[in-house]
Amino acid sequence: LGDDPQLIEEIGRLRQERNAVILAHNYQRPEVQRIADFVGDSLGLSRQAARTDADVIVFAGVHFMAETAAILNPGKTVLLPDLRAGCSLADTLTAQDIRAWKAQHPGGLVVTYVNTTADVKAESDYCCTSGNAVQIVESLPADVPVLFAPDRFLAAHVMRQTGRHLHVWQGACHVHEAIRPEDIAHQQGAHPDAELLIHPECGCSSRILASQPDVQLYSTEGMIHRARASAAQTFIVVTETGMVTRLEHDVPDKTFIPVSRTACCEYMKMITLRGVREALRDLSPRVTVPEAVRAQALRPIERMLAIG
Ligand code: 13P
Ligand code: SF4
Repeated sequence: LGDDPQLIEEIGRLRQERNAVILAHNYQRPEVQRIADFVGDSLGLSRQAARTDADVIVFAGVHFMAETAAILNPGKTVLLPDLRAGCSLADTLTAQDIRAWKAQHPGGLVVTYVNTTADVKAESDYCCTSGNAVQIVESLPADVPVLFAPDRFLAAHVMRQTGRHLHVWQGACHVHEAIRPEDIAHQQGAHPDAELLIHPECGCSSRILASQPDVQLYSTEGMIHRARASAAQTFIVVTETGMVTRLEHDVPDKTFIPVSRTACCEYMKMITLRGVREALRDLSPRVTVPEAVRAQALRPIERMLAIG
């Protein structure tokens, strides 16, 4: 449906009537990013959700992100335009799994990536995103075991950066896991002067670092800062393809090559302009979190927001 002007105008009118804010993740469709009040990574979106004075938050992202907004804003209406927008990584871990895992490591601290359900957050000591996972682990006392979940590739990155041993849940995101070192080699062959921007959820990151040790890994927001600061003119973007939209918008004088057109998160792409319009019009579908879970899940999220 692209940039339908009538639809965009209707969204603008409803946004005002509802006193709503639209928050969009960097992996959203271009036309959804364009109508958002704020576009960012998981950490930036959580921060926006924590400080908004809007009555309604429309989350153009996936379910765990809308849940995080609901945990931070018990009095507000949080809308997710399509409730099927889930996350393969969040699906790898349940609250029951965490309880059983903690029982195996008494006294351990649990750090979970924000890509988890509210029930899992409620069992966690700290949440983190790819933007502050290293700082969170560095802030923990050196003599306690740390249980890190659910992304095993982000965990490997944190272990490399901090030199600390972590107990690791063996989860992964299906989109980032499927990006192969051969995809990167192919693009590097075609663009020999390009710099790599690699997300730490990528399964290929360890193998790339073994052969190209100077390569850095970046959260999606970190990629924006790096692209601005770097002397390079062309970048190979090794993450979900939506990130190229955000980079082209924010750093218009440089060139961004998606590592693979198939690195596309079907959950993120379930959010459409029509869905946003209908959510604002009907104030539905809502995402809510039971109060007992919310109260428990708030603590690790607040710790995440305080660090990094
Ligand atoms: P960040 O935006 O925090 O880098 O996370 C990427 C992601 O996969 C979100 O689902
Ligand atoms: Fe989840 Fe992966 Fe999609 Fe991010 S890209 S929402 S981690 S499935």
